[in-house]
Amino acid sequence: MKSERKKVTVASIGKMRQEGEKIAALTAYDFPTATLADEAGVDIILVGDSLGMVVLGYENTLRVTMSDMLHHASAVTRACPRALVVGDMPFMSFQESKEMAVRNAGRFVKEAGVDAVKIEGGESLTETVEHIIRASIPVMGHVGLTPQSILKFGGYKVQGKKVEDAERLVKDAKALEEAGCFAVVLEGIPWKLAQRITSELTVPTIGIGAGPHCSGQVLVLHDVIGLFSKYAPRFVKRYIEAGDLVKDAFVRYVTEVKEGKFPTLEYSYGD
Ligand code: KIV
Repeated sequence: MKSERKKVTVASIGKMRQEGEKIAALTAYDFPTATLADEAGVDIILVGDSLGMVVLGYENTLRVTMSDMLHHASAVTRACPRALVVGDMPFMSFQESKEMAVRNAGRFVKEAGVDAVKIEGGESLTETVEHIIRASIPVMGHVGLTPQSILKFGGYKVQGKKVEDAERLVKDAKALEEAGCFAVVLEGIPWKLAQRITSELTVPTIGIGAGPHCSGQVLVLHDVIGLFSKYAPRFVKRYIEAGDLVKDAFVRYVTEVKEGKFPTLEYSYGD
């Protein structure tokens, strides 16, 4: 289904929440897949630092750099006349100081052409978020199982299961809304907690592993199409097994070349 081509903005994302229209978000990291996602009607395309795992082959997201992100975000913005494109601030691109954060958020806009940035963390980041927003760059928050904190968490563990942790996450999400975030990603938390946070915020929540009651959902593109199998969290739904299809095509190509069946004259120049 091709969607109407009107550009999605942070204002239209807010309006979707107010009107109860669910928000469909997906990650993308390159021109061809971002084109398909935009044409399919995805509202928000996140150039996530999950890039490090699903495209660059790292163990986690911690080694992803601003250069990596800018390179891929530029390709995505060129592919997206409609979707709101959000650039994910990678590990250590914002933690050191709010000046560093605004500089790197600015690079995302100036060098890659994104519409907004996303930043992982809660209440302790509100000054940083305010600083970026003061530079007229919209910010999406991200709380819960934030992958840049796996060293602290000791792995990919569902967050907010204990009462005090759940209360902390509610406070974090509210602080981000107050600081001016236009949406907040809720990752890897119990669905009832996500439902509560969603009902207590006025900005949209975008869930990943946070149940059905968020204002919208986001998934990693390579998970959705079956191109990444290293981890299989419970929340991932694979809509196709593109990995199998692509591998099968490669095997057939190799066989045809080896057997001299490709190319035939049909694929050759001359009479
Ligand atoms: O990096 C990423 O892709 C993300 C989303 C999955 C929320 O942060």
